[in-house]
Amino acid sequence: MKIGIDKIGFYAPHLYVDMNKLAVARDVEPAKFTIGIGQEKMAIAPITQDAVTLAANAAFGILDASDKEKIDYVIFGTESGVDNSKSAAVYVHGLLGLNPHARCVEVKQACYGATAAIQMAKGHIALNPESKVLVLGSDIARYGLHTGGESTQGAGAVALLISADPKIMVLEDQNSLYTDDIMDFWRPIYSDKAYVDGKFSNEQYILFFNKVWEDYKEKTGFGLKDFEAICYHLPYTKMGLKALRTVLDQGTEEDKDRLLANYEFSKTYNKNIGNIYTGSLYLSLLSLLDLKEDLEAGSRIGLYSYGSGAVGEFFSGILEANYREHLYVNQHTELFESRREVSVEEYEVIFSETLPTDGTNVELEIDHDPAVICLAGVNGHSRQYINKLR
Ligand code: HMG
Repeated sequence: MKIGIDKIGFYAPHLYVDMNKLAVARDVEPAKFTIGIGQEKMAIAPITQDAVTLAANAAFGILDASDKEKIDYVIFGTESGVDNSKSAAVYVHGLLGLNPHARCVEVKQACYGATAAIQMAKGHIALNPESKVLVLGSDIARYGLHTGGESTQGAGAVALLISADPKIMVLEDQNSLYTDDIMDFWRPIYSDKAYVDGKFSNEQYILFFNKVWEDYKEKTGFGLKDFEAICYHLPYTKMGLKALRTVLDQGTEEDKDRLLANYEFSKTYNKNIGNIYTGSLYLSLLSLLDLKEDLEAGSRIGLYSYGSGAVGEFFSGILEANYREHLYVNQHTELFESRREVSVEEYEVIFSETLPTDGTNVELEIDHDPAVICLAGVNGHSRQYINKLR
């Protein structure tokens, strides 16, 4: 049975900060952020957007009435969960008006969560070929103002509809996994900001990539020549390039040129959004599919997922015939074009605005947020979400 990605969409908040200006404000050479890190714009989440609303907005853009009826499983990958008990998937299920005969859960393993969700979805579809699974990867990456990780923050969500006979990409069965208990990046439950050993995390990302790539090659007999492109989890866009460069000498000049050229397409959305943790790899895939217009059906795309802590996975997919007809390129172009730049000072104010943690009720101003689905406040310790169209 062919199982894979039937639809894919994303959402990012309507605000961003320019990385050149952030660099100047932090007394850093702008080229360090734009070339050394590889980021141009960083999405900023207003207080009216959280992991739930970002994901709901991403899914809202792609689901039709038939999908809503057929989805019987919502799997929400996130490391920015809003509740230690209730899953973010249940909120999204309600906000989108999905079929009540559905299972909703949240999964966590840093940026690897959405990949775990996709593999769970594949198993579910194999047993229930008629069903569709909504996989969500949604996060707000926060390290803190004036920290080493600040330039690698971001916010956004990707929604993937996984089904049998998918219209965009069939996910192949071969994969390679690697887990090791390391402390490269983590976020204790009492903190709304991540802790990170930056240099160590970079090393481990590459080490895990080499482990899963070598194992994958041994299992499948595939090499660089078999891939049209390789997409990476992109905490910042230079990271995937560093990993790719470690294996390029395994291929011909042609392989090298093709993979480097396609890497450029696969990083474009990410360099304008920043790290969105769980959704990052799929944002990169979406960037490649939307922007590389002559990518042929039948092409094999490699996917490297990495979640700190850490779990890595390499797997692959094959593009289906007429896949371009099922992309939402115009919707995504519009999203990028309608964003508003904020100054570094405004970003600092927005970043510092947090919800009360002492039980105080709060009503938020949602008129300034163009998103369809927003967080409207907190009442009785309960987040109040609004779908403006329902
Ligand atoms: P840093 O200390 O600010 O930067 O940390 P640096 O000194 O390492 O410089 C970065 C690059 O800029 C270097 O290039 C410099 O040479 C270059 P490289 O040698 O690495 O190729 N540079 C310049 N280039 C051009 N012109 C200049 C210039 N100056 C310097 N003038 C770091 C950077 C990414 C470590 C930091 O921002 C950080 O800690 N970020 C957060 C952690 C992170 O993103 N880790 C990535 C791997 S772990 C991962 O992906 C998982 C994660 O997504 C979490 C999850 O799983 O949930 C993070």
